[in-house]
Amino acid sequence: MGGKPVSERPWWQHAVIYEIYPRSFQDTDGDGVGDLSGILERVDYLAWLGVDAVWICPFYPSPMADFGYDVADYVGIDPLFGTLSDFDRLVEALHRRGIRIILDFVPNHTSDKHPWFEESRSSRDSPKRDWYIWRDAHPDGGPPNNWQSLPAGSAWEFDEPTGQYYCHSFLASQPDLNWRNASVRAAMYDVLRFWLYRGVDGFRVDVLWHLIEDAQFRDDPLNPRFRDGDPPHQRLLPIRSADQPEVLPIIAEMRQALNECPGERLLIGEIYLPLQRLVAYYGPNLTGVHLPFNFSLMWVDWRPAQVLRLIRDYEAALPPGAWPSWVLGNHDQKRVASRLGADQARVAMMLLMTLRGTPTLYYGDELGLEDVTIPHEEVRDPFGLVVPGQGRDPERTPMPWDASHNGGFTTGRPWLPLGKAHPAMSVDVQKRNPESMLNLTRALLALRRREPALSLGGWEPLAVEGDVLAYSRTSGGRRFIVVLNLGSAPKAVGFDRDLAGAIELSTHPGRAGERISTRINLRGDEGIIIKPT
Ligand code: NOJ
Repeated sequence: MGGKPVSERPWWQHAVIYEIYPRSFQDTDGDGVGDLSGILERVDYLAWLGVDAVWICPFYPSPMADFGYDVADYVGIDPLFGTLSDFDRLVEALHRRGIRIILDFVPNHTSDKHPWFEESRSSRDSPKRDWYIWRDAHPDGGPPNNWQSLPAGSAWEFDEPTGQYYCHSFLASQPDLNWRNASVRAAMYDVLRFWLYRGVDGFRVDVLWHLIEDAQFRDDPLNPRFRDGDPPHQRLLPIRSADQPEVLPIIAEMRQALNECPGERLLIGEIYLPLQRLVAYYGPNLTGVHLPFNFSLMWVDWRPAQVLRLIRDYEAALPPGAWPSWVLGNHDQKRVASRLGADQARVAMMLLMTLRGTPTLYYGDELGLEDVTIPHEEVRDPFGLVVPGQGRDPERTPMPWDASHNGGFTTGRPWLPLGKAHPAMSVDVQKRNPESMLNLTRALLALRRREPALSLGGWEPLAVEGDVLAYSRTSGGRRFIVVLNLGSAPKAVGFDRDLAGAIELSTHPGRAGERISTRINLRGDEGIIIKPT
Protein backbone atom coordinates (compact mmCIF):
# COMPACT_ATOMS: atom_id res chain seq x y z
CA MET A 1 0.00 0.00 0.00
CA GLY A 2 3.01 2.25 0.23
CA GLY A 3 2.75 3.52 -3.37
CA LYS A 4 5.53 5.60 -4.88
CA PRO A 5 8.72 6.30 -2.90
CA VAL A 6 9.39 9.69 -1.32
CA SER A 7 11.54 10.90 -4.18
CA GLU A 8 8.63 10.52 -6.59
CA ARG A 9 6.01 12.15 -4.40
CA PRO A 10 5.13 15.84 -4.44
CA TRP A 11 6.93 17.53 -1.52
CA TRP A 12 3.71 18.39 0.29
CA GLN A 13 2.71 14.74 0.67
CA HIS A 14 5.59 14.05 3.03
CA ALA A 15 5.76 17.52 4.56
CA VAL A 16 4.85 18.78 8.00
CA ILE A 17 3.26 22.23 7.71
CA TYR A 18 3.64 24.76 10.52
CA GLU A 19 1.13 27.58 10.88
CA ILE A 20 2.49 30.95 11.99
CA TYR A 21 0.17 33.66 13.26
CA PRO A 22 2.56 36.51 12.49
CA ARG A 23 1.20 38.97 15.09
CA SER A 24 2.26 36.54 17.79
CA PHE A 25 5.46 34.87 16.62
CA GLN A 26 8.30 37.35 17.12
CA ASP A 27 8.35 41.12 17.34
CA THR A 28 11.53 42.95 16.33
CA ASP A 29 10.55 46.62 16.46
CA GLY A 30 9.09 46.81 19.96
CA ASP A 31 5.51 47.63 18.97
CA GLY A 32 4.21 44.50 20.66
CA VAL A 33 3.10 42.90 17.38
CA GLY A 34 5.13 40.24 15.58
CA ASP A 35 6.58 40.98 12.14
CA LEU A 36 8.26 39.40 9.13
CA SER A 37 11.74 40.23 10.44
CA GLY A 38 10.72 38.34 13.55
CA ILE A 39 9.94 35.23 11.55
CA LEU A 40 13.27 35.70 9.79
CA GLU A 41 15.02 35.73 13.17
CA ARG A 42 13.39 32.43 14.02
CA VAL A 43 14.06 30.57 10.81
CA ASP A 44 16.81 28.58 12.49
CA TYR A 45 14.33 27.48 15.13
CA LEU A 46 11.96 26.25 12.41
CA ALA A 47 14.80 24.31 10.80
CA TRP A 48 15.84 22.89 14.20
CA LEU A 49 12.26 21.79 14.89
CA GLY A 50 12.22 20.08 11.51
CA VAL A 51 9.16 21.52 9.79
CA ASP A 52 9.03 21.37 5.99
CA ALA A 53 6.78 24.32 5.26
CA VAL A 54 5.34 27.34 7.02
CA TRP A 55 1.92 28.81 6.36
CA ILE A 56 1.86 32.44 7.39
CA CYS A 57 -1.50 34.08 8.19
CA PRO A 58 -2.22 37.39 6.38
CA PHE A 59 0.31 40.23 6.55
CA TYR A 60 -1.14 42.38 3.74
CA PRO A 61 -2.11 46.05 4.17
CA SER A 62 -5.26 46.00 6.26
CA PRO A 63 -7.26 48.11 8.71
CA MET A 64 -6.97 45.01 10.94
CA ALA A 65 -10.67 44.83 11.73
CA ASP A 66 -10.19 41.04 11.59
CA PHE A 67 -6.42 41.14 12.13
CA GLY A 68 -5.48 40.91 8.49
CA TYR A 69 -8.37 38.83 7.15
CA ASP A 70 -9.72 42.17 5.91
CA VAL A 71 -7.32 42.85 3.06
CA ALA A 72 -6.99 46.38 1.62
CA ASP A 73 -4.24 45.50 -0.87
CA TYR A 74 -3.51 41.92 -1.94
CA VAL A 75 -0.03 42.64 -3.25
CA GLY A 76 1.63 44.54 -0.46
CA ILE A 77 2.83 44.17 3.12
CA ASP A 78 1.26 46.08 5.97
CA PRO A 79 3.89 48.37 7.53
CA LEU A 80 3.07 46.74 10.87
CA PHE A 81 4.67 43.56 9.51
CA GLY A 82 7.45 45.07 7.38
CA THR A 83 8.13 45.55 3.69
CA LEU A 84 8.29 43.55 0.48
CA SER A 85 12.08 43.43 0.91
CA ASP A 86 11.60 41.81 4.32
CA PHE A 87 9.31 39.33 2.62
CA ASP A 88 11.86 38.54 -0.09
CA ARG A 89 14.55 38.06 2.56
CA LEU A 90 12.28 35.70 4.45
CA VAL A 91 11.52 33.61 1.37
CA GLU A 92 15.21 33.37 0.61
CA ALA A 93 16.13 32.39 4.19
CA LEU A 94 13.42 29.74 4.38
CA HIS A 95 14.30 28.27 1.02
CA ARG A 96 17.97 28.19 1.92
CA ARG A 97 17.03 25.86 4.78
CA GLY A 98 14.76 23.77 2.60
CA ILE A 99 11.56 25.16 4.16
CA ARG A 100 8.66 26.02 1.85
CA ILE A 101 6.42 29.04 2.31
CA ILE A 102 2.64 29.03 2.01
CA LEU A 103 0.65 32.28 2.05
CA ASP A 104 -2.87 32.94 3.20
CA PHE A 105 -5.06 33.86 0.23
CA VAL A 106 -8.28 35.61 1.30
CA PRO A 107 -10.51 35.58 -1.79
CA ASN A 108 -14.02 35.58 -0.32
CA HIS A 109 -13.96 39.17 0.90
CA THR A 110 -11.86 42.30 0.98
CA SER A 111 -11.71 45.07 3.52
CA ASP A 112 -14.32 47.80 3.05
CA LYS A 113 -11.25 50.04 2.69
CA HIS A 114 -10.01 48.15 -0.37
CA PRO A 115 -10.03 50.57 -3.35
CA TRP A 116 -12.16 48.04 -5.27
CA PHE A 117 -14.92 48.28 -2.68
CA GLU A 118 -14.63 52.04 -2.34
CA GLU A 119 -15.13 52.28 -6.07
CA SER A 120 -17.92 49.71 -6.05
CA ARG A 121 -19.92 51.49 -3.36
CA SER A 122 -19.40 54.94 -4.91
CA SER A 123 -22.30 54.57 -7.37
CA ARG A 124 -24.68 52.04 -8.83
CA ASP A 125 -23.04 52.75 -12.20
CA SER A 126 -19.50 52.17 -11.01
CA PRO A 127 -17.61 49.79 -13.32
CA LYS A 128 -16.74 47.85 -10.15
CA ARG A 129 -20.32 47.75 -8.83
CA ASP A 130 -20.66 44.10 -9.80
CA TRP A 131 -17.34 43.17 -8.18
CA TYR A 132 -19.27 42.84 -4.92
CA ILE A 133 -22.72 41.44 -4.19
CA TRP A 134 -25.30 44.24 -4.15
CA ARG A 135 -29.05 43.67 -3.83
CA ASP A 136 -32.18 45.70 -3.33
CA ALA A 137 -34.06 45.41 -0.07
CA HIS A 138 -36.58 42.62 0.34
CA PRO A 139 -40.11 43.78 -0.56
CA ASP A 140 -40.75 43.97 3.20
CA GLY A 141 -38.07 46.63 3.38
CA GLY A 142 -35.55 44.46 5.26
CA PRO A 143 -32.38 42.67 4.06
CA PRO A 144 -32.67 40.75 0.74
CA ASN A 145 -32.82 37.36 2.49
CA ASN A 146 -32.13 35.66 5.83
CA TRP A 147 -28.44 34.78 5.39
CA GLN A 148 -26.36 35.13 8.52
CA SER A 149 -22.82 36.38 8.95
CA LEU A 150 -20.08 35.32 11.32
CA PRO A 151 -19.85 35.93 14.17
CA ALA A 152 -23.51 37.08 14.30
CA GLY A 153 -26.26 39.01 12.58
CA SER A 154 -27.53 39.47 9.04
CA ALA A 155 -25.07 38.95 6.18
CA TRP A 156 -26.46 42.13 4.57
CA GLU A 157 -25.45 45.71 5.32
CA PHE A 158 -27.49 48.61 4.01
CA ASP A 159 -25.43 51.26 2.26
CA GLU A 160 -27.30 54.54 2.52
CA PRO A 161 -25.76 56.55 -0.36
CA THR A 162 -26.71 54.07 -3.09
CA GLY A 163 -29.73 52.58 -1.33
CA GLN A 164 -28.74 48.90 -1.67
CA TYR A 165 -27.48 46.14 0.59
CA TYR A 166 -24.11 44.44 0.19
CA CYS A 167 -23.36 40.89 1.26
CA HIS A 168 -20.75 40.06 3.91
CA SER A 169 -20.28 36.51 5.17
CA PHE A 170 -18.14 37.87 8.00
CA LEU A 171 -17.93 41.38 9.49
CA ALA A 172 -19.69 44.27 7.77
CA SER A 173 -16.20 45.65 7.14
CA GLN A 174 -15.44 42.50 5.08
CA PRO A 175 -17.68 42.78 1.98
CA ASP A 176 -17.90 39.59 -0.14
CA LEU A 177 -16.37 39.72 -3.60
CA ASN A 178 -18.60 38.53 -6.43
CA TRP A 179 -16.78 35.47 -7.76
CA ARG A 180 -19.37 35.06 -10.53
CA ASN A 181 -17.80 38.14 -12.11
CA ALA A 182 -15.03 37.16 -14.57
CA SER A 183 -13.04 40.37 -13.93
CA VAL A 184 -12.92 39.61 -10.21
CA ARG A 185 -11.64 36.14 -10.95
CA ALA A 186 -8.99 37.44 -13.36
CA ALA A 187 -7.80 40.05 -10.85
CA MET A 188 -7.57 37.47 -8.09
CA TYR A 189 -5.63 34.99 -10.23
CA ASP A 190 -3.20 37.82 -10.91
CA VAL A 191 -2.76 38.11 -7.15
CA LEU A 192 -1.80 34.44 -7.03
CA ARG A 193 0.68 34.98 -9.87
CA PHE A 194 2.23 37.99 -8.12
CA TRP A 195 3.16 35.89 -5.10
CA LEU A 196 4.02 32.77 -7.08
CA TYR A 197 6.61 34.70 -9.04
CA ARG A 198 7.99 36.04 -5.76
CA GLY A 199 8.74 32.44 -4.87
CA VAL A 200 5.88 31.21 -2.70
CA ASP A 201 5.22 27.50 -2.71
CA GLY A 202 1.49 27.55 -2.19
CA PHE A 203 -1.59 29.07 -0.62
CA ARG A 204 -4.03 28.28 2.12
CA VAL A 205 -7.32 29.59 0.79
CA ASP A 206 -9.47 31.29 3.41
CA VAL A 207 -13.11 30.10 3.80
CA LEU A 208 -13.10 28.46 0.41
CA TRP A 209 -16.56 26.94 0.78
CA HIS A 210 -18.05 30.43 1.16
CA LEU A 211 -16.82 31.72 -2.19
CA ILE A 212 -20.08 31.27 -4.09
CA GLU A 213 -23.64 31.74 -2.88
CA ASP A 214 -26.95 30.65 -4.39
CA ALA A 215 -27.53 32.46 -7.69
CA GLN A 216 -31.21 32.95 -6.78
CA PHE A 217 -30.46 34.27 -3.29
CA ARG A 218 -32.89 31.85 -1.66
CA ASP A 219 -33.22 31.79 2.14
CA ASP A 220 -31.29 29.32 4.25
CA PRO A 221 -33.56 26.90 6.15
CA LEU A 222 -33.75 26.81 9.94
CA ASN A 223 -31.40 24.42 11.69
CA PRO A 224 -33.63 21.97 13.61
CA ARG A 225 -30.72 21.09 15.91
CA PHE A 226 -30.14 24.67 17.04
CA ARG A 227 -30.37 25.15 20.80
CA ASP A 228 -30.31 28.30 22.90
CA GLY A 229 -26.73 29.12 23.72
CA ASP A 230 -25.34 27.76 20.42
CA PRO A 231 -23.34 30.29 18.35
CA PRO A 232 -25.91 32.62 16.74
CA HIS A 233 -24.89 31.92 13.14
CA GLN A 234 -25.79 28.24 13.63
CA ARG A 235 -29.50 29.15 13.77
CA LEU A 236 -29.69 28.43 10.01
CA LEU A 237 -28.33 25.65 7.81
CA PRO A 238 -26.15 27.49 5.27
CA ILE A 239 -27.12 25.35 2.30
CA ARG A 240 -27.77 28.38 0.06
CA SER A 241 -25.21 30.82 1.38
CA ALA A 242 -22.22 28.43 1.14
CA ASP A 243 -20.89 25.19 -0.39
CA GLN A 244 -22.36 25.68 -3.88
CA PRO A 245 -21.20 23.38 -6.71
CA GLU A 246 -20.09 26.35 -8.85
CA VAL A 247 -17.07 26.75 -6.56
CA LEU A 248 -15.35 23.68 -8.02
CA PRO A 249 -14.61 25.06 -11.52
CA ILE A 250 -13.26 28.19 -9.81
CA ILE A 251 -10.84 26.13 -7.77
CA ALA A 252 -9.75 24.42 -10.98
CA GLU A 253 -8.97 27.89 -12.37
CA MET A 254 -6.89 28.69 -9.29
CA ARG A 255 -5.01 25.46 -9.88
CA GLN A 256 -4.35 26.58 -13.46
CA ALA A 257 -2.64 29.73 -12.15
CA LEU A 258 -0.44 27.55 -9.97
CA ASN A 259 0.29 25.18 -12.82
CA GLU A 260 1.66 28.02 -14.93
CA CYS A 261 4.63 28.14 -12.56
CA PRO A 262 7.45 25.64 -12.47
CA GLY A 263 7.64 23.27 -9.53
CA GLU A 264 4.88 21.81 -7.44
CA ARG A 265 2.84 24.57 -5.84
CA LEU A 266 0.30 23.63 -3.22
CA LEU A 267 -3.32 24.69 -2.81
CA ILE A 268 -4.95 24.06 0.56
CA GLY A 269 -8.58 24.88 1.27
CA GLU A 270 -9.95 26.05 4.59
CA ILE A 271 -13.27 24.21 4.60
CA TYR A 272 -15.42 23.50 7.62
CA LEU A 273 -17.82 20.86 6.33
CA PRO A 274 -18.75 17.29 7.26
CA LEU A 275 -16.38 14.69 5.76
CA GLN A 276 -18.64 13.64 2.91
CA ARG A 277 -18.96 17.25 1.69
CA LEU A 278 -15.36 18.10 2.50
CA VAL A 279 -13.89 15.51 0.16
CA ALA A 280 -15.83 17.02 -2.77
CA TYR A 281 -13.23 19.82 -2.68
CA TYR A 282 -10.58 17.50 -4.11
CA GLY A 283 -12.64 18.20 -7.23
CA PRO A 284 -13.54 16.06 -10.23
CA ASN A 285 -10.42 14.10 -11.23
CA LEU A 286 -8.53 15.85 -8.42
CA THR A 287 -8.80 19.27 -10.08
CA GLY A 288 -9.77 20.87 -6.76
CA VAL A 289 -7.48 21.79 -3.89
CA HIS A 290 -4.63 19.39 -3.18
CA LEU A 291 -5.56 19.39 0.49
CA PRO A 292 -8.94 20.35 1.87
CA PHE A 293 -8.01 20.92 5.53
CA ASN A 294 -9.52 18.12 7.58
CA PHE A 295 -10.47 19.59 10.97
CA SER A 296 -12.42 16.60 12.23
CA LEU A 297 -9.87 15.64 14.92
CA MET A 298 -10.68 18.93 16.63
CA TRP A 299 -14.28 17.91 17.33
CA VAL A 300 -14.13 14.14 17.69
CA ASP A 301 -15.09 12.54 20.99
CA TRP A 302 -11.57 11.67 22.18
CA ARG A 303 -12.08 7.95 22.77
CA PRO A 304 -10.42 5.08 20.87
CA ALA A 305 -13.52 3.76 19.11
CA GLN A 306 -14.63 7.22 18.02
CA VAL A 307 -11.21 8.35 16.81
CA LEU A 308 -10.74 5.05 15.00
CA ARG A 309 -14.10 5.40 13.30
CA LEU A 310 -13.25 8.92 12.23
CA ILE A 311 -9.93 7.85 10.67
CA ARG A 312 -11.62 4.93 8.91
CA ASP A 313 -14.53 7.05 7.65
CA TYR A 314 -12.17 9.70 6.36
CA GLU A 315 -9.87 7.21 4.65
CA ALA A 316 -12.92 5.53 3.09
CA ALA A 317 -14.40 8.85 1.92
CA LEU A 318 -11.23 9.98 0.11
CA PRO A 319 -11.56 9.87 -3.67
CA PRO A 320 -9.01 7.67 -5.47
CA GLY A 321 -5.58 9.31 -5.42
CA ALA A 322 -6.60 12.03 -2.95
CA TRP A 323 -4.08 12.78 -0.23
CA PRO A 324 -5.22 13.09 3.41
CA SER A 325 -4.84 16.16 5.63
CA TRP A 326 -4.85 16.26 9.43
CA VAL A 327 -5.08 19.27 11.74
CA LEU A 328 -5.17 19.53 15.53
CA GLY A 329 -5.34 23.27 16.01
CA ASN A 330 -5.36 26.68 14.36
CA HIS A 331 -5.80 30.37 15.13
CA ASP A 332 -9.61 30.04 15.23
CA GLN A 333 -9.98 27.13 17.66
CA LYS A 334 -9.28 26.33 21.28
CA ARG A 335 -5.74 24.96 21.67
CA VAL A 336 -5.35 21.19 21.73
CA ALA A 337 -3.70 21.22 25.18
CA SER A 338 -6.72 23.09 26.54
CA ARG A 339 -9.15 20.72 24.88
CA LEU A 340 -7.46 17.47 25.92
CA GLY A 341 -5.12 18.42 28.77
CA ALA A 342 -1.34 18.73 28.76
CA ASP A 343 -0.60 15.00 29.03
CA GLN A 344 -3.04 13.92 26.35
CA ALA A 345 -1.75 16.68 24.06
CA ARG A 346 1.48 14.65 23.83
CA VAL A 347 -0.48 11.59 22.70
CA ALA A 348 -2.40 13.75 20.24
CA MET A 349 0.89 15.00 18.79
CA MET A 350 2.01 11.40 18.31
CA LEU A 351 -1.28 10.65 16.55
CA LEU A 352 -0.96 13.69 14.30
CA MET A 353 2.58 12.77 13.29
CA THR A 354 1.84 9.12 12.61
CA LEU A 355 -1.31 9.36 10.51
CA ARG A 356 -1.23 8.91 6.75
CA GLY A 357 -1.30 12.30 5.11
CA THR A 358 -0.03 15.83 5.64
CA PRO A 359 -0.17 17.16 9.20
CA THR A 360 -0.47 20.86 9.98
CA LEU A 361 0.94 22.00 13.29
CA TYR A 362 -0.18 25.26 14.92
CA TYR A 363 2.63 27.43 16.31
CA GLY A 364 3.03 26.87 20.05
CA ASP A 365 1.38 23.46 20.01
CA GLU A 366 4.88 21.99 19.90
CA LEU A 367 5.31 23.59 23.34
CA GLY A 368 1.95 22.39 24.60
CA LEU A 369 0.74 25.97 24.97
CA GLU A 370 -2.70 26.32 26.46
CA ASP A 371 -5.33 28.96 25.87
CA VAL A 372 -4.65 32.10 27.85
CA THR A 373 -7.55 33.67 29.70
CA ILE A 374 -7.96 37.20 28.40
CA PRO A 375 -9.41 39.73 30.80
CA HIS A 376 -12.57 41.33 29.48
CA GLU A 377 -10.94 44.73 28.93
CA GLU A 378 -8.11 43.18 26.89
CA VAL A 379 -10.27 41.26 24.40
CA ARG A 380 -9.10 42.20 20.91
CA ASP A 381 -10.81 39.74 18.58
CA PRO A 382 -13.92 41.23 16.96
CA PHE A 383 -15.67 37.86 17.30
CA GLY A 384 -15.13 38.04 21.07
CA LEU A 385 -16.35 41.63 21.18
CA VAL A 386 -19.55 40.78 19.29
CA VAL A 387 -20.29 37.44 20.99
CA PRO A 388 -18.68 37.34 24.44
CA GLY A 389 -16.93 34.03 25.02
CA GLN A 390 -16.40 33.37 21.31
CA GLY A 391 -13.21 35.34 20.99
CA ARG A 392 -10.15 33.71 19.48
CA ASP A 393 -7.57 35.69 21.44
CA PRO A 394 -6.88 32.85 23.93
CA GLU A 395 -5.27 30.69 21.21
CA ARG A 396 -3.43 33.59 19.56
CA THR A 397 -1.16 34.72 22.39
CA PRO A 398 2.56 35.42 21.85
CA MET A 399 5.09 32.65 21.50
CA PRO A 400 7.27 32.34 24.63
CA TRP A 401 10.87 32.03 23.48
CA ASP A 402 12.63 32.34 26.83
CA ALA A 403 11.90 32.81 30.51
CA SER A 404 12.43 36.57 30.45
CA HIS A 405 9.73 39.20 30.81
CA ASN A 406 7.39 38.88 27.80
CA GLY A 407 9.11 35.66 26.86
CA GLY A 408 11.58 37.28 24.47
CA PHE A 409 8.63 37.97 22.16
CA THR A 410 8.83 41.74 22.37
CA THR A 411 10.64 44.52 24.15
CA GLY A 412 7.38 46.46 24.17
CA ARG A 413 3.92 45.69 25.45
CA PRO A 414 2.63 42.49 23.78
CA TRP A 415 -0.62 42.97 21.88
CA LEU A 416 -2.06 40.04 23.86
CA PRO A 417 -0.79 38.84 27.23
CA LEU A 418 1.45 35.78 27.45
CA GLY A 419 0.20 32.99 29.67
CA LYS A 420 1.35 32.92 33.32
CA ALA A 421 3.07 29.60 32.62
CA HIS A 422 5.16 31.12 29.84
CA PRO A 423 8.62 30.91 31.46
CA ALA A 424 8.33 27.16 32.04
CA MET A 425 6.72 26.61 28.63
CA SER A 426 9.29 28.65 26.73
CA VAL A 427 11.41 27.28 23.90
CA ASP A 428 14.65 27.87 25.81
CA VAL A 429 13.54 26.00 28.91
CA GLN A 430 11.98 23.14 26.96
CA LYS A 431 14.99 22.75 24.70
CA ARG A 432 17.08 21.91 27.76
CA ASN A 433 14.66 19.26 29.00
CA PRO A 434 14.96 16.05 26.99
CA GLU A 435 11.48 14.97 28.14
CA SER A 436 9.73 18.19 27.15
CA MET A 437 6.81 18.44 24.73
CA LEU A 438 9.10 20.40 22.44
CA ASN A 439 11.70 17.64 22.29
CA LEU A 440 8.99 15.01 21.87
CA THR A 441 7.55 16.94 18.91
CA ARG A 442 10.99 17.35 17.42
CA ALA A 443 11.72 13.63 17.82
CA LEU A 444 8.40 12.78 16.15
CA LEU A 445 9.16 15.06 13.23
CA ALA A 446 12.64 13.58 12.86
CA LEU A 447 11.32 10.01 12.97
CA ARG A 448 8.61 10.85 10.45
CA ARG A 449 11.19 12.35 8.13
CA ARG A 450 13.54 9.37 8.53
CA GLU A 451 10.82 6.77 8.07
CA PRO A 452 8.52 7.40 5.09
CA ALA A 453 6.33 4.54 6.37
CA LEU A 454 5.04 7.07 8.93
CA SER A 455 4.02 9.71 6.40
CA LEU A 456 3.38 7.88 3.15
CA GLY A 457 2.87 4.30 4.24
CA GLY A 458 -0.39 2.43 4.37
CA TRP A 459 -2.52 2.77 7.49
CA GLU A 460 -4.23 -0.27 9.03
CA PRO A 461 -6.15 -0.37 12.30
CA LEU A 462 -5.02 -3.11 14.68
CA ALA A 463 -7.35 -5.16 16.78
CA VAL A 464 -6.10 -5.04 20.33
CA GLU A 465 -7.48 -6.12 23.63
CA GLY A 466 -8.07 -3.12 25.87
CA ASP A 467 -9.49 0.28 25.18
CA VAL A 468 -6.65 1.81 23.18
CA LEU A 469 -6.10 3.06 19.67
CA ALA A 470 -3.62 0.97 17.70
CA TYR A 471 -2.63 0.93 14.07
CA SER A 472 0.23 0.02 11.80
CA ARG A 473 2.04 2.07 9.17
CA THR A 474 3.80 0.18 6.45
CA SER A 475 5.84 1.05 3.40
CA GLY A 476 8.47 -0.74 1.38
CA GLY A 477 8.88 -3.52 3.93
CA ARG A 478 9.23 -1.09 6.86
CA ARG A 479 6.49 -1.35 9.45
CA PHE A 480 5.67 0.58 12.61
CA ILE A 481 2.99 -0.04 15.20
CA VAL A 482 1.47 2.93 17.00
CA VAL A 483 -0.34 2.30 20.28
CA LEU A 484 -2.06 5.24 21.96
CA ASN A 485 -3.70 5.33 25.36
CA LEU A 486 -6.31 8.05 25.04
CA GLY A 487 -7.16 7.79 28.73
CA SER A 488 -5.36 8.74 31.92
CA ALA A 489 -5.44 5.29 33.56
CA PRO A 490 -2.67 2.74 32.84
CA LYS A 491 -3.69 -0.04 30.48
CA ALA A 492 -2.36 -3.48 29.70
CA VAL A 493 -2.71 -4.21 26.02
CA GLY A 494 -2.57 -7.62 24.42
CA PHE A 495 -1.87 -8.11 20.75
CA ASP A 496 -3.41 -10.96 18.85
CA ARG A 497 -0.02 -11.97 17.49
CA ASP A 498 3.58 -11.74 18.43
CA LEU A 499 4.86 -8.29 17.57
CA ALA A 500 8.44 -9.01 18.58
CA GLY A 501 9.69 -5.48 18.39
CA ALA A 502 11.16 -2.66 20.38
CA ILE A 503 9.84 0.71 21.43
CA GLU A 504 11.18 3.32 19.06
CA LEU A 505 9.60 6.33 20.76
CA SER A 506 7.30 6.92 23.71
CA THR A 507 5.59 10.01 25.06
CA HIS A 508 7.10 8.91 28.40
CA PRO A 509 10.75 8.84 29.44
CA GLY A 510 12.88 5.74 29.71
CA ARG A 511 11.00 3.40 27.40
CA ALA A 512 12.88 3.64 24.14
CA GLY A 513 14.49 0.31 23.27
CA GLU A 514 12.19 -1.74 25.56
CA ARG A 515 11.36 -5.11 23.99
CA ILE A 516 7.73 -5.94 23.22
CA SER A 517 6.16 -9.26 22.25
CA THR A 518 2.46 -9.97 22.86
CA ARG A 519 1.70 -7.62 25.76
CA ILE A 520 2.53 -4.10 26.69
CA ASN A 521 1.78 -2.09 29.81
CA LEU A 522 0.89 1.42 28.78
CA ARG A 523 0.98 4.18 31.33
CA GLY A 524 -1.87 6.65 31.51
CA ASP A 525 -1.72 9.14 28.65
CA GLU A 526 1.04 7.19 26.97
CA GLY A 527 1.64 6.73 23.30
CA ILE A 528 4.31 4.49 21.85
CA ILE A 529 5.71 3.69 18.46
CA ILE A 530 6.99 0.14 18.08
CA LYS A 531 9.35 -1.07 15.42
CA PRO A 532 8.86 -4.78 14.84
CA THR A 533 12.12 -6.68 14.49
C1 NOJ B 1 -11.13 32.23 8.48
C2 NOJ B 1 -9.97 32.74 9.23
O1 NOJ B 1 -9.20 31.65 9.68
C3 NOJ B 1 -10.52 33.57 10.37
O2 NOJ B 1 -9.53 33.92 11.27
C4 NOJ B 1 -11.20 34.77 9.76
O3 NOJ B 1 -11.82 35.53 10.78
C5 NOJ B 1 -12.26 34.35 8.76
N1 NOJ B 1 -11.79 33.34 7.87
C6 NOJ B 1 -12.70 35.51 7.92
O4 NOJ B 1 -11.69 35.80 6.97
